[in-house]
Amino acid sequence: MLVSAKEMLDKAVAGHYAVGQFNINNLEWTKSILLTAEELKSPVILGVSEGAGKYMTGFKTVAAMVKAMMEELNITVPVALHLDHGTYEGCKKCIDAGFSSIMFDGSKYPIEENVAKTKELIAICREKGMSIEAEVGSIGGEDGVIGKGECADPNECKMIADLGVDMLAAGIGNIHGKYPANWEGLSFETLDAIQKLTGDMPLVLHGGTGIPEDMIKKAISLGVAKINVNTECQLSFADATRKYIEAGKDLEGKGYDPRKLLKPGAEAIQATVKEKMELFGSVGKAE
Ligand code: 13P
Repeated sequence: MLVSAKEMLDKAVAGHYAVGQFNINNLEWTKSILLTAEELKSPVILGVSEGAGKYMTGFKTVAAMVKAMMEELNITVPVALHLDHGTYEGCKKCIDAGFSSIMFDGSKYPIEENVAKTKELIAICREKGMSIEAEVGSIGGEDGVIGKGECADPNECKMIADLGVDMLAAGIGNIHGKYPANWEGLSFETLDAIQKLTGDMPLVLHGGTGIPEDMIKKAISLGVAKINVNTECQLSFADATRKYIEAGKDLEGKGYDPRKLLKPGAEAIQATVKEKMELFGSVGKAE
């Protein structure tokens, strides 16, 4: 059964670790992440961007696939199915489709409008027992959004946190995708100021790919309880698949069978997810 992300994130704040949000793109991705979470007894959040939802033919398909797969694989760890960077309309669709969590990304609206729309969605989520993430300060790179790693205004973060969201994504110099060579790193000054104003609110670190381990650990010590990883699984999958094909394995016997062709990539995703869960400290925290 899918769960809201609230309880697992509140526990992460109290226990000083972070739960990984790993974005899914298809069946192989979903299976790899669920199997790894179960093996490591770690809670997990499956992230679905609007683009990935469309690719998988719609949010209803995604919710049905994830629920059925959890049952067939006997997944016992807490799993939240979460919309990543949702529009207002996308949030409504995921609520109807049976997701257990949404992110409303109102960062492109003036703060007053972000507040009004977030408030409305919070009320719906409360009623349905779903969790909701809000965003303050743009985090560049996701689905065509360009940004340079902005820092959020801590007072605006407090304003949104006080509305009653369950988790808050705030820009602290993080960017989606690969970090440029001249990236200046995370702004711990900003994170510290946000945490001081928002208290125990689980903070979300987007753009988890390529952030050095020491920065991840410091961010967790300053209240980050959810870390989003997408690109790193894509890179691992692509690399393993390329190696398989370059080695001519698809031409040996029935190596072209998708169950064989996609296997190295799926295993590479599992290895990446395992590495991240160990780094984030969520291993063994399923209970
Ligand atoms: P990366 O693609 O940089 O890992 O970021 C993922 C993310 O933040 C999804 O919201």
